[in-house]
Amino acid sequence: MSKPVLLMLSGSLRKESYNRKLVSEAVNAFGPAEVIDGDLDLPLFNEDVEAAGFPDKVETLYDQVRRADALIIGAPEYNKGISGPLKNGIDWLSRPNPSILKDKKAVVLSAAGGRTGGETAHFMTVSILTQLQVNVVHGPLILVAQAQNEFDENGRLTNDFLKKQVTDRMERLRGMLKAFRL
Ligand SMILES: Cc1cc2nc3c(=O)[nH]c(=O)nc-3n(C[C@H](O)[C@H](O)[C@H](O)COP(=O)(O)O)c2cc1C
Repeated sequence: MSKPVLLMLSGSLRKESYNRKLVSEAVNAFGPAEVIDGDLDLPLFNEDVEAAGFPDKVETLYDQVRRADALIIGAPEYNKGISGPLKNGIDWLSRPNPSILKDKKAVVLSAAGGRTGGETAHFMTVSILTQLQVNVVHGPLILVAQAQNEFDENGRLTNDFLKKQVTDRMERLRGMLKAFRL
């Protein structure tokens, strides 16, 4: 059987993003998979641009989402809300008809500098995805608070509790994908 396809999406565009590191941690915990690194550095959504034709980078993301068995999403918190790149990306992804998001599985994780670990942005992200009929793999929220203290020099999580949360969630995803393929 072919390997499951996981699409990594970081709602932060910066190179050293903790959300990107967290998504990598999750993908590593999943085990054998084909991993695609999605890029949310897209043009701002604009219905006039859409009417002229989807931009190439948006089309690329659409193809990646179509191929993916699951989306692994890192949701940073900006000003107690979802980050611009992540919301913009989801807005683009919501546009194809028929939907490319409906029934797609997703794991959402958040890393943030504050003490709540991006909880508000996390809730907002899950709420938006649910509206779009994405199957979020639910469970205790995976929130990395004060993320600047939680990763080592190789970008790996150091906290055993968080590592177990991530591993457990990815094991559940793997089980769900396996059941789905039977
Ligand atoms: C514009 C902006 C707003 C922010 N607002 C919050 C916030 O509301 N809550 C919080 O915990 N951290 C906030 N932060 C800090 C981010 O959580 C921190 O920069 C984090 O590292 C961003 O994620 P990244 O590492 O994936 O880029 C904010 C950062 C920026 C740049």
